[in-house]
Amino acid sequence: MKVAIVGSGYVGLVTGTCFAEVGIDVMCVDIDKKKIENLKNGIIPIYEPGLEEMVHRNTKRGKLQFTTSIAEALEDCEVLFSAVGTPPGDDGSADLQYVLSVARDCGKHMKDYVLVVTKSTVPVGTARKVKAAIQEELDKRGVSIPFDVASNPEFLKEGAAISDFLKPDRIVVGLDSERAEDLMKSLYKPFTLNGHPVIFMDIVSAEMTKYAANSMLATKISFMNDIANLCEIVGADINMVRKGIGSDSRIGNKFIYPGIGYGGSCFPKDVKALIHTAEDFGYELKVLKAVEAVNQDQKSVLFNKVMKFYKGDIKGKTIAIWGLSFKPQTDDMREAPALVIIQKLLDAGAKVKAYDPVAMKEASHTLGDTIVYADDQYDALIDADCLLLVTEWSEFKFPNFKIMRKLLTQPVVFDGRNIYEAADMKRNDFTYFCIGIDTTK
Ligand SMILES: NC(=O)c1ccc[n+]([C@@H]2O[C@H](COP(=O)([O-])OP(=O)(O)OC[C@H]3O[C@@H](n4cnc5c(N)ncnc54)[C@H](O)[C@@H]3O)[C@@H](O)[C@H]2O)c1
Repeated sequence: MKVAIVGSGYVGLVTGTCFAEVGIDVMCVDIDKKKIENLKNGIIPIYEPGLEEMVHRNTKRGKLQFTTSIAEALEDCEVLFSAVGTPPGDDGSADLQYVLSVARDCGKHMKDYVLVVTKSTVPVGTARKVKAAIQEELDKRGVSIPFDVASNPEFLKEGAAISDFLKPDRIVVGLDSERAEDLMKSLYKPFTLNGHPVIFMDIVSAEMTKYAANSMLATKISFMNDIANLCEIVGADINMVRKGIGSDSRIGNKFIYPGIGYGGSCFPKDVKALIHTAEDFGYELKVLKAVEAVNQDQKSVLFNKVMKFYKGDIKGKTIAIWGLSFKPQTDDMREAPALVIIQKLLDAGAKVKAYDPVAMKEASHTLGDTIVYADDQYDALIDADCLLLVTEWSEFKFPNFKIMRKLLTQPVVFDGRNIYEAADMKRNDFTYFCIGIDTTK
C-alpha cells in the first residue's frame, strides 16, 4: 500500500517513518522546501530519539520518500494523512487554515479514490469542513471522484514517539464508511498484532477523544501542582502525598508529579481549544478553566521562590538554568515554562546562563542573545549565584555536588522538578528549594 503524509513535523515525520518501517510505501510532504531538501539529504529537522537512524534506513531501502508536491504524493496513493499544525488562534480556538489548505490541495490534485485522514488535533466538526473543502475543489474541476474522510488523532509523546507509534496503547479511528474501515484496519494491522486495540467510532467522538485525553492529563498536572502549593503552606510533603495517593489503583502513580506547569505544543493549546469549542456550543468547561489558570500561576512559582530568597532584588545576579525544553528527550521549546521563567528573571535585572543537552539551538530562535548558552551543565554554574533546575534531563539527576558547590558563588538550588532529595541537599551543604515542600523548616 502507498500512503502520503502531509506535514513532516513531529507527528508527520514519525508517522511516515514508522509506516515505512513496517513495509508501507510512504511519501512525506511538506511546504517547507528547506525541510524537505534537508530530509532528502538525511538531515532530520527535530530531535527525537531513534528517529534519525530509522529515517536513514527506510530512505535507503526506498520505503520513505520526500516531496513538496502533494500532486506527486497523491499518485497511486490510497490513504493520505494530514499531520499539519493546528496552532491556537488569537481567541484560543484551533487555527484550521493548514488543515483546510491540505484538504483543498487534495481536491485539486486527486485522480482516484483517496481516504483523507486527519491526524492533526482538530475540534469537533473539522472532518465535515475537510469533506466540504475537498468536494468544493472537485466541483470546481467538474469531476466526480469518490473519497472518504476519517479522524485518526495521534497520541504519541515527544521523546518516546517511535515506541509510542510502534506499540500504541490504542489507536482511535473515527470514520463513516466500510471502505475506509477496511483500509485503516489493514494499515494498522502491523501495529496491533500484540493485542493493542484499534477503537473504531464515529468521527465526532474521535475528534473529541483527543481533546478529552490531553485535557485529562493537563488536569492531573494542575491538580497536583495546586495540592503541592497547599502542602508547602500547611507543612506537608508533596512527595509523600504523591506516593500515598498514587498507590491507589483508581488514581495511579503516573502523571501526578508536581512541577512548574505543563508546556509543549499540545496541552496548552488543546486545553484552550476545548474551552473554546465548549463556549461555541454554549457550555462552560469550569474544570478546564481552573486547570489553565493554575498552570499559568505555576510557571511563576520558581521565580517567586528566587525573589523571596533574594528579598525582591536580583538585579545583577547571574542565574544558572539547567534545562530549557518543555520536557526531557526533546528539543521542542513551544510553550516551555523555561521561556516564562527566563523572561521574568531578565525583566527583574538578572543575567541568565543556561544549558540544555539538545534544545539550545531551538531556544536561541526565541531567546536570541538575551541569555548566555553554556558549553555544558557545569560551565553554566561558573560564577552563577544560584541554579534553577527547569527540565529533568537524566544527566542532571546525579550531578557532582562538590563541583557544583565550587563553581556557584553560593550553593543555592531551586529545583522545579523535585529531582533531588531535600535531605541529600542539606547533607551536601546546599540551600535547597523545591515544589510542594517547605525546605526552610
Ligand atoms: N507534537 C506532538 O507531540 C503531537 C502529538 C499528538 C498530536 N499532535 C498534533 O499533530 C499536529 C501536528 O503537530 P506537530 O507537532 O507535528 O507540528 P509541526 O509544527 O512540528 O509540523 C507541522 C508541519 O506541517 C507543515 N505544513 C503546514 N502546512 C502545510 C501544507 N499545506 N502542506 C504541507 N505541509 C504543511 C509545516 O511546514 C510543518 O513542517 C497538531 O495538530 C498537533 O496538535 C502533536
